[in-house]
Amino acid sequence: MATETKGLANEVKTVAVIGAGLIGCSWASLFAASGRRVHVYDSRPDAAKVMEDFWVSVKPTLIELGLANAETTPDLEVFNTLADAVTGADFIQECIPERLDMKRELYSAMEPVLAPHAIIATSSSGLKLSDLQEGLKDPGRIIIAHPFNPPHLIPLVELYGNELTAAGVLETSGAFYESCGKVVITLKREVLAHVANRLQAALWREAIHLVTEGVASLKDINTAVSAGPGLRWAVMGPHMLLNLGGGEGGLRAYCEQFHDSYHTWWDDLGKPQLTPQTIDALVDGLREEIGERDYASLRQERDDKLVAILAAMKQVDAART
Ligand SMILES: NC(=O)c1ccc[n+]([C@@H]2O[C@H](COP(=O)([O-])OP(=O)(O)OC[C@H]3O[C@@H](n4cnc5c(N)ncnc54)[C@H](O)[C@@H]3O)[C@@H](O)[C@H]2O)c1
Repeated sequence: MATETKGLANEVKTVAVIGAGLIGCSWASLFAASGRRVHVYDSRPDAAKVMEDFWVSVKPTLIELGLANAETTPDLEVFNTLADAVTGADFIQECIPERLDMKRELYSAMEPVLAPHAIIATSSSGLKLSDLQEGLKDPGRIIIAHPFNPPHLIPLVELYGNELTAAGVLETSGAFYESCGKVVITLKREVLAHVANRLQAALWREAIHLVTEGVASLKDINTAVSAGPGLRWAVMGPHMLLNLGGGEGGLRAYCEQFHDSYHTWWDDLGKPQLTPQTIDALVDGLREEIGERDYASLRQERDDKLVAILAAMKQVDAART
């Protein structure tokens, strides 16, 4: 990391994570592993226990990723009030449910006690920044910082700031996330659901369509992604891969060869809705694939494989430089 970027990242010493659910606990663990002081607040009364259990469950993974060691003790405190949690924080990672009214109410409650330089980063999966800024006295301090689940493992963070965003806020935020091992992309304009969720939504839409049309079993459709293009997508994005698919002629040759095919395929893609019948079909199909495995063992399998892929890619990158 360049010295200037390191300096920006060092401006973030205390992070407040608001909402200790799936995403908040994961962010809090990652920030604590990076050596930051972490304040946590959640409206549920057992938040301290939830956070503690989460840390214990992910610490081995953070060690495997090289982000913590056996001796790492998180400098993490769960507070009983929002005001106590955000007081003194340089950076707020907001992780409460995806409801515009709830998020706006939370920002209004926290704004009077925030440090003047404090940045609010919302984990929101698809709300618009311009809607979230409404009602804030200082809309320049809030940005979108959307992770992919689980944030302590999946490197991507999507950042978005708009014309109201104060100078330096995106730069400091990007440097902070990179110092925690994240890979940051920055959106140039506002769009519903940012970039990665739109891509995920496009793929999932067609996967659902294939299930409801009975083209293959749900298990085989899952395998078609994970044993096929999904594996390649972990290594390179679609445009890079199709550039290789075009041979020496690259992406242009690929487009020239396949444009008619893609136009016909795109016209034929499905537009399913998540009706009760469709949801039943998905849940039934998935039950067959899951078998006897419980949530914890599935989560562990996902995390073990993700850690192995990340470690292998790091090794290849190191050998190539
Ligand atoms: N689940 C995902 O895959 C995912 C991925 C990326 C981003 N996100 C985004 O992250 C945010 C959180 O999602 P999640 O899946 O962790 O939800 P979640 O339901 O698991 O957790 C939300 C937590 O917020 C707490 N909460 C509710 N109101 C609160 C308040 N006013 N003050 C403090 N705490 C409050 C709840 O008690 C709960 O523990 C959402 O905006 C979501 O869009 C989710």
